[in-house]
Amino acid sequence: MATVIDKYPKSGDEIRKAFLDFYEKKAHKVIPSSSLIPDDPTVLLTIAGMLPFKSIFLGLKDKPSNRATSSQKCIRTNDIENVGVTARHHTFFEMLGNFSFGDYFKRDAIEWAWQLVTNVYHLDRKNIVISVFDKDTESKKIWEENIGIEPDKIIQLGEKDNFWSSGPTGPCGPCSELYYDFYPERGMNNIDLDDDDRFIEFYNLVFMQYNRDSSGALTDLKYKNIDTGMGLERMAQILQKKKNNYETDLIFPIIEKASQLSKVDYFSANSSQKASLKILGDHTRAIIHLISDGVIASNLGRGYILRRLLRRMIRHGKLLGIKDKFISQLALVGIQLMKNTYPELQNNSQRIFSEIDIEEQRFLNTLERGEKLLNEIIASGVKLISGTQAFELYDTYGFPLELTKEILDEKNIEVDLKGFEREMNSQRERAKAASQTVDLTLEGSIERDIELFEKTNFVGYELLNTEGNIKGIFINSNSVENASQGETVQVVLNQTSFYAESGGQIGDVGVIISDNAEILVEKVIKKKDVFLHYGIIQRGSIKINQLVETRVDKSKRVKAESNHTATHLLQSALKLVVDESVSQRGSMVAFNKLRFDFNSPNPVSENQILDIEKLVNKWILENHSIS
Ligand code: GLY
Repeated sequence: MATVIDKYPKSGDEIRKAFLDFYEKKAHKVIPSSSLIPDDPTVLLTIAGMLPFKSIFLGLKDKPSNRATSSQKCIRTNDIENVGVTARHHTFFEMLGNFSFGDYFKRDAIEWAWQLVTNVYHLDRKNIVISVFDKDTESKKIWEENIGIEPDKIIQLGEKDNFWSSGPTGPCGPCSELYYDFYPERGMNNIDLDDDDRFIEFYNLVFMQYNRDSSGALTDLKYKNIDTGMGLERMAQILQKKKNNYETDLIFPIIEKASQLSKVDYFSANSSQKASLKILGDHTRAIIHLISDGVIASNLGRGYILRRLLRRMIRHGKLLGIKDKFISQLALVGIQLMKNTYPELQNNSQRIFSEIDIEEQRFLNTLERGEKLLNEIIASGVKLISGTQAFELYDTYGFPLELTKEILDEKNIEVDLKGFEREMNSQRERAKAASQTVDLTLEGSIERDIELFEKTNFVGYELLNTEGNIKGIFINSNSVENASQGETVQVVLNQTSFYAESGGQIGDVGVIISDNAEILVEKVIKKKDVFLHYGIIQRGSIKINQLVETRVDKSKRVKAESNHTATHLLQSALKLVVDESVSQRGSMVAFNKLRFDFNSPNPVSENQILDIEKLVNKWILENHSIS
């Protein structure tokens, strides 16, 4: 009889599938990856597999089942300088995870992790080293007694290494990590788990049992939970026996394409060329997913992260000697590699290519001018450039600060970072004063508490004035029972006639009023259908459960609606006058103005602008009814 040789998981796809299958058999519900844009205002991007489950851990949301497993796309940019330099720092990565919501805890999590890595991935136990939180004797005991790990292979570490949280506040707990040891024959004396050449941490088991509040205090979560993270790229490195994550089948095809375009062979490249190729491999994966999930390059927040990644790619392409635009060609390889797991990449591919193309062209144009200025600075022989100069390079010539630093670093020239920060802050202030956009960064406990409210009943399409009950009051984002004259507050009501800012249209302004109080409402935003009214108490005081009337300023509402309608007219006119392919990239609707961002293959001429104006004015005068 022919012997059947088990096919052990090896490719990235096989590793991912084996993980999800293993936990599915252990009654875990397989949950598809969430977007990189989290439903959580405290973080810009999804940075861990647990993020989509954060409100479940906090007990704020119902659980999909007692157990879940997922392969989650993640982006971390805090270590971007290390990407391409170390063996396994990435911006984009996939995190495999198994989760228990108040169901199993330490013992099962450890036993199953062990079964998975030894029976499914077939790692040899001699290659595995464990770390535990030094105060967590229970986990140490399970590893020793239930799994039989030799005590010298269990390393006890402190809070810095083995206490995991997704941010300064939120769910957290002690953790235990599995490391792969490439050289077990070297023995366990004086080992350093941070030695990247010898060890790779590949599976983190978090015993998530606390919530940390903004003062740093820990309270017990309602349940004891499990949150784990296994880096797919790391497991691929181990099973494919590669020197680093970049050489695995998850990334290397992109590097090969970059190699082909630049004619720089990866294996014979010098170390800085190698780093550039790895950066291209890494960043390609990040940008295609960011754009696919809806991020557009800009100078703020996620848009800035995308812009920075794209610009780093262009610069490293240049360092490798690539002359023309090239990023779309790498993106194509990235999409092909990942489209089976993430079909949205294929569906959004046209948008991905067009966003890359626009941003690449824009940057190439400014880069040329900026490089001239930088060369002048270098030639002048200075040892430090001022914050103002660095800011000019950033603001006028599109040079991200990191890029300026990177280039000047090579010439031993320093940048006045504090000065840069000052310039940046004053620009932010100017931008704030100049536009009426809403600050969506909700701090303190408001972000947690807002989830506790019922959805606000919005009646503002039919009524400008209505009655509502005060359900929540926040001062400086902290929940309070009452507030009085002069205080700046955010108020949640069970019902409102105030339209909340959304889709680029400004929210209503007006007053919330009762016999003994009046709040001047300056802006309204909504978070998961809960409306937050921002305002100042002009008179009297308010308290929870007080009945109030909401009165929208009608003249402002009409202006906002007119400007909103005008964006539609403008878009139609642009299509007729400029090009049918004009597409909207964003818009801002305020009371006194509107802004409409669009893509167009050609610049818009003076004459075309006049034609557009005429057309829009004609349509306005025709006085159509609106539906
Ligand atoms: N949430 C576990 C980890 O990211 O390591």
